[in-house]
Parts: sequence; C-alpha cells; structure tokens
Amino acid sequence: MTDIVSLGLTSWRPELESAAQQTAIRTIEGGGVLVLPRLSFELSAEEVRFLSPTWSDGRAKNISLDGAALRGAYGLDQDLGALARMIERFGASAGDLVTALFPRYAPYVKRARTSFRPQPAVGRPVSWRKDDARLHIDAFPSRPNHGERILRVFSNVNPVEDRVWRVGEAFATMAQTFLPRIGKPMPGIPALLAALRVTKGVRSEYDHLMLGLHDNAKADLDYQRRCEQQTVHFAPGTTWLCFSDQVMHAAVSGQHMLEQTIHLPVTALYDPGSSPLAILERLCGRRLLPAH
Ligand code: SIN
Ligand code: FE
Repeated sequence: MTDIVSLGLTSWRPELESAAQQTAIRTIEGGGVLVLPRLSFELSAEEVRFLSPTWSDGRAKNISLDGAALRGAYGLDQDLGALARMIERFGASAGDLVTALFPRYAPYVKRARTSFRPQPAVGRPVSWRKDDARLHIDAFPSRPNHGERILRVFSNVNPVEDRVWRVGEAFATMAQTFLPRIGKPMPGIPALLAALRVTKGVRSEYDHLMLGLHDNAKADLDYQRRCEQQTVHFAPGTTWLCFSDQVMHAAVSGQHMLEQTIHLPVTALYDPGSSPLAILERLCGRRLLPAH
C-alpha cells in the first residue's frame, strides 16, 4: 500500500527535528505522499476573488506562471498582475518548504512552472490519455526528461471543499504489470520527433517506457477499477508533496489548487536506487539512458 504520511508542520520554513526530517525523506523517496494538514497557503482578502474559473482563458487547463509569463489567464492587466504575484508567492513558499524538508535538493530548487487550477478537477471532456481522473504516473509526450525526477508541491486553497485523489499501488508493482505490454521504440523515430520539435530533445528508452506505463495504465479500465488503491482527502488548507513520476495518482474531485513542480536529477536523491529509473533498469536488466 502506498504510504500516506502526515506531519504537523505549520511553517513554510520549518525547523525540523531529525526524526521528522527522516520521515519526510523516507516517505517521499519511498514513493509515498507527504501530507501537511496544518500548512495552509494564506490568501489575502484581495486575492480571494481569484478563486473562480472566470480567470481562465477557457482554452488552457490551468493558469500557469513560467518565469514572468502568466499563461492561460484572462482579465485586466492590473488584476492579472495581482494574480501573478499570488502564484509567484506560492512558488517561493513551495521552494522554501522543499529546501527545509530536503536540504540535499536545495541546489535544484530553481523552480519550474507554478500552476493555479481554478477549474473543477474533473468534468471537462478530455481524451483518455489526458484524463487525470484515471490513475497514472506523470510522463509527458513532448518533454523527455531522461530520468529527471518530478517533485510536486500541492496546496488546496478552497475554503470549504476537499481535494480528493485516488492513490494506487507501488511503482514497481504497477511497472511489472505493464512493462510486458510496451513495445520497443521504432528505430529512428525518437531522433525524428526531436528534429521535428515534436519532442523537446530526444526521447530516451526511459522516457519511452514511462510514457508507455502512463498510457497503458490509463487505457486499462479493468486495472483502473481493480488495482489496489485508496481514496485520500486533502482538506481545505492542506499542503502535500509527492514525486508524481512515481506515485500512481488520480483526481477525484475538488477545485482551486496551487501546484509547484521542481525537477531534480536522480543524483540529488538521498537514495538514487529508489528512483523510477533505477527501478525500471532493475526490472529490465539493462541501462535505459544513452551513455554520455
Ligand atoms: C494530476 O496531477 O494528475 C491531477 C491532480 C489534481 O488535479 O488534483
Ligand atoms: Fe498527474
């Protein structure tokens, strides 16, 4: 069963005792979800108005802040400036939190995009491959990452409604089920996709397998119903973290969440042997990244 472990932290820059630090590291690198039920991201009275899907441009799934660029939002410049500052403040807080919880990761907390999700978590019509209401690990067709980890910090900023997830089985167990169903990449295709800029860089065998796991798990409705899973409620004011390239997760319900992604090289981990790259290489019995 995937570990769901709570810590009672109340600060975005907590000073942790060694036992709590070890719990945080063991939970997250072991493929669990670290829940901080008492760590809320506070909105100012001015910012509460952003809890509405009307700030979305109606096209993008999320509003995101990438460096200084706000994407997917719609409104007057002065309002969007205030919205960007709110998202920026969350990104900075999430970076502080990760630095305090996992000091080894600190050099890599150059943040990737921060997202604000004012739309209901489920209900929009999407293809099965994009349907995050199905259990999946995160792997992105256009963004090969060669084993780099995807650490995500989430916060439920809805004042009344839980965000609800299903959390599935351990990565290795899931991988054992689906690896035999994934064919070899067609020779020459990864290089062609990169040359055509369909992918940002060349898809490695690791990326091919991660996408294959993502797609096969989402496509298998019988697996979706029957695999070992638990429902997890994240109450208003809760923050949680996981490696979303490792934890099988699915959105069930909720609205208004902030999310920060942090990319980490496998070498930054306390235990690189716990990474999806190491697990898949053990299961396949060979290296899955090209030699440098
Ligand atoms: C996801 O990251 O797959 C969806 C999570 C959510 O919307 O709560
Ligand atoms: Fe996801």
